[in-house]
Amino acid sequence: MTWRFSLEERCQRILQDMEGSLTARDRVGIQDFVLLDAYTSETAFMDNLRKRFNENLIYTYIGTLLVSVNPYKELGIYTKKQMDIYMGVNFFELPPHIFALADNVYRTMISETNNHFILISGESGAGKTEASKKVLQFYAVCCPSTRLLDNVRDRLLLSNPVLEAFGNAKTLKNDNSSRFGKYMDIQFDHQGAAVGGHILSYLLEKSRVVHQNHGERNFHIFYQLVEGGEDELLRWLGLERNCQKYRYLIQGECAKVSSINDKSDWKTVQKALTIIEFSEKDIEHLFAIIASVLHLGNVHFEASAHGYATLNSSAEVHWLSKLLGIPSNILQEGLTHRKIEAKAEEVLSPFTAEHAKYARDALAKAIYGRTFTWLVNKINESLVNKDSTRKTVIGLLDIYGFEVFDVNSFEQFCINFCNEKLQQLFIQLTLKSEQEEYEMEGIEWEPVPYFNNKIICDLVEEKHRGIISILDEECLRPGEATDFTFLEKLEEKMCGHPHFVTHKLADQKTRKTLERGDFRLLHYAGEVTYSVVGFIDKNNDLLYRNIKEVMRQSKNSIIQHCFHTIEPDGKKRPETVATQFKSSLAGLTEILMTKDPWYVRCLKPNHCKQPDRFDDVMVRHQVKYLGLMEHLRVRRAGFAYRRRYEIFLKRYKALCPDTWPHWKGTPAEGVQRLIKHLGYKPDEYKMGRTKIFIRHPRTLFATEDAFEICKHELATRIQAKYKGYRVKGEYQRQREAATKIETCWRGLQARRERERRAWAVKVIKKFIKGFMNRNQPVSMDNSDYLAFVRQSYLTRLKDNLPKSVLDKTIWLTPPPIMQEASVLLRKLHTRLLVRKYVRGISAQQKVQLQIKALTSDIFKGRKENYPQSVCQPFADTRISEQDINIKVLQLICPEGIKYSVPVIKYDRNGFRPRFRQLIFTQAAAYLVEEAKIKQRVNYSSLKGVSVSDLSDNFLILHVTCDDTKQKGDLVLQCSYLFEALTKICVVTKNHKLIKIVQGSVRFDIQPGKEGFVDFKSSSESMVYRAKNGHLMVESARTKSR
Ligand SMILES: Nc1ncnc2c1ncn2[C@@H]1O[C@H](COP(=O)(O)OP(=O)(O)OP(=O)(O)O)[C@@H](O)[C@H]1O
Ligand SMILES: [Mg+2]
Repeated sequence: MTWRFSLEERCQRILQDMEGSLTARDRVGIQDFVLLDAYTSETAFMDNLRKRFNENLIYTYIGTLLVSVNPYKELGIYTKKQMDIYMGVNFFELPPHIFALADNVYRTMISETNNHFILISGESGAGKTEASKKVLQFYAVCCPSTRLLDNVRDRLLLSNPVLEAFGNAKTLKNDNSSRFGKYMDIQFDHQGAAVGGHILSYLLEKSRVVHQNHGERNFHIFYQLVEGGEDELLRWLGLERNCQKYRYLIQGECAKVSSINDKSDWKTVQKALTIIEFSEKDIEHLFAIIASVLHLGNVHFEASAHGYATLNSSAEVHWLSKLLGIPSNILQEGLTHRKIEAKAEEVLSPFTAEHAKYARDALAKAIYGRTFTWLVNKINESLVNKDSTRKTVIGLLDIYGFEVFDVNSFEQFCINFCNEKLQQLFIQLTLKSEQEEYEMEGIEWEPVPYFNNKIICDLVEEKHRGIISILDEECLRPGEATDFTFLEKLEEKMCGHPHFVTHKLADQKTRKTLERGDFRLLHYAGEVTYSVVGFIDKNNDLLYRNIKEVMRQSKNSIIQHCFHTIEPDGKKRPETVATQFKSSLAGLTEILMTKDPWYVRCLKPNHCKQPDRFDDVMVRHQVKYLGLMEHLRVRRAGFAYRRRYEIFLKRYKALCPDTWPHWKGTPAEGVQRLIKHLGYKPDEYKMGRTKIFIRHPRTLFATEDAFEICKHELATRIQAKYKGYRVKGEYQRQREAATKIETCWRGLQARRERERRAWAVKVIKKFIKGFMNRNQPVSMDNSDYLAFVRQSYLTRLKDNLPKSVLDKTIWLTPPPIMQEASVLLRKLHTRLLVRKYVRGISAQQKVQLQIKALTSDIFKGRKENYPQSVCQPFADTRISEQDINIKVLQLICPEGIKYSVPVIKYDRNGFRPRFRQLIFTQAAAYLVEEAKIKQRVNYSSLKGVSVSDLSDNFLILHVTCDDTKQKGDLVLQCSYLFEALTKICVVTKNHKLIKIVQGSVRFDIQPGKEGFVDFKSSSESMVYRAKNGHLMVESARTKSR
């Protein structure tokens, strides 16, 4: 196939198209900040963001990083149609979109078979969870699917509403705020189908179970159950359909929220639970726990006279006992007492009412927190992929954003620490590694100043010296540790740290902004003041040992599970919350470090959750702490894209005839050749030690587009080759088959030939043997031969039979055994011919033949020249009546002329020859000379007729002659001798008339005078008068037939 354009031309066209469409798309601001002229200007950055936001363009790129601004309204840009548009299309070809990023990650994963993660960050309500859901939905729709995979897909999708119900709550900032960090791995098989998943959850904000700020709610599930739960279920759980009845639900005084439909959400969760394969028992136990928490919240303590806590809520305890399956007295004791070790004994010490409330809340938090962990594990079980084949992974990290409240406590401290860690990861993965990579690759690098927040991370997490270590120390040390002693320790250890300030450590000006119980951290994203109140408690997260034991007795399988596995050794203190969180973050960092990062930075446009409102100050602040400007600077300073030479060459080598299909040199040389062919300009790229660096994304996209086009051509070529290969294979197969058939056929023929020859040998042998024994009596040895001989003779005979009766010469000489048969056959055949002949002859011929037969009777074998006469047909007469003289005719006609023939008459004396006519009438024979009847011979006086036995044609008519005057015998020579003689026999009806004599005939010249005619064979026919006076007739001997 030939291209209509050369590759360069095509690349050029694509580049033009690219740029053309880029400009067209960029009409509303710029869709990629990398293309921003004043890329260092925050104002320009903000302007672009605002401009686009005002046009509902919520997405903008910084290279491959996606900036998303929460529109707080439905934009209709997440439909299936949109997904189709973005599926498989080059990243920069369409306007920026979360689907474009998702698609790009997915395709990179497929083509490079490596793992990736998408870090979605931003402050609460910025749209992180929504973004992660969109990514998941995109994969659910766009990945290849089967019925089995659909199951996985459904579970992955439905894990969201379940986790949101249990882990999300309405806060001041977000009506659906995720109160836990979530990292979800989606596993793909080599064909790109989603085959499994795994979820990690981080630090659920348990305190929300027992306390909510004004305007906030508890976790959604409580409201969903109370509002949406079926009557029967509520009855069974001992609940009323009224949130106001439950203390844990009303502290924020906003149980009802207009943007949340608890009833329908309840249905969704119910359905999701069944699809994720929660058993009925599990579901029953799960809601028993949720209800128990509500009941627990309503458990009320009063102080006894001694100041000890007494339970004043027997109905609640009753329901708790029923739902948790724990005897109520045990439960009651657990809620009002704690076990303390006194020397070797354990004694129960009653709580004060205040203490009991604290223990109750701690229990509620513990139950809920542990049940949440169980829930995540249960979902993971249903997402697990048991197939051990290699999978690639896309991780989705939806984690709480940087938080700053009026009063910030332990939770904010943890959350912001988490954001510091993620920023550190970002720095490591992007900024720092970018710079390091350039250095490593020997590429000139203009240093991009960026703030490395490691110092803050260390401040929080450093072993023995970090805030967490100090907090833990305070929590664990014996004696009266309080939040304030903790603060003092901090001040003592952190004094002078540039990112740590307290009232005591601050300068005059700053001190004014701080309370005594506060400490302030100068986070990378901004300053946050934390109140130390509650730090120790929250970090300890203490649950008295005896209440744990009580829980272990529960008949509720989930509670059993949750309280059984943890802390087998009751005496050993569990890890503090902060340390647990620190290690889980370290674990997360480890997971993420092995994957390729992609970023989605979510921005919140205003505090009021309002659409079309862009609060400059607020957004600017987020742009700052999300490090967007730094990211952009790095992108612009450096190169948008880099790949190892091998990978780059492997992917694009098809674009250059020199590198396709195989490049023999080093990958770097190959890439050099390739990009020269593609016409990269010198300022568009740099060659590193192991990688190529491409400055602008558009250069790469042009290459990628060229590759896309080329791929189709290659596919066609490969297809054609493959088809050729298939056809060739088929042809070879057929040829082999033909050869095989031929071989078999030849073999068959050869075998037949061999059999034929063997048969022939046998036959020939038999034939020879038969031939040798042909004259023997019929036996086994010769019977076949003889049969053959017979058959062959008969066959030949059939083809060589005489065709006419007279054909006596043709008769095949028979073999000895056929002698007799031959004779018989010949006779038969002759008879047949005769019959045929006879049937074919006319009456006239018949008469003629009868006469001839008569002739034969008379002469056959007696007269030498008779045979010659046989073939000469007899005529009725030899002289027509016109040739007989009229006078003669008149005289003899009345007698009836029967036959006339010319003869030579020899004079009786002197034997002179005279021509005469011999005429037979009914009564006599006449010898006529012209008009004269020379002699009349009455038949009555005809004694006989003599002829010789030789070849002459003389006849002597012997006449009775009484009278001497009478003429004597007649000596005649007749050319039609046999005809004439036979005629005379017929006319006279005397067959005995003819006498055949040998040697000599005596005749009467006249009575008493005799003459002789002598006959003799000679070499020549002659008639003369011999010396002895006899007539000498010499006749040439005729060959007998
Ligand atoms: N792309 C979007 N289109 C329309 N509305 C959106 C979009 N993203 C977010 N929102 C709105 O913003 C709200 C908050 O979004 P979301 O829950 O994703 O925030 P978040 O970043 O996860 O916050 P948190 O940290 O509190 O969990 C959503 O409930 C939705 O109403
Ligand atoms: Mg969220």
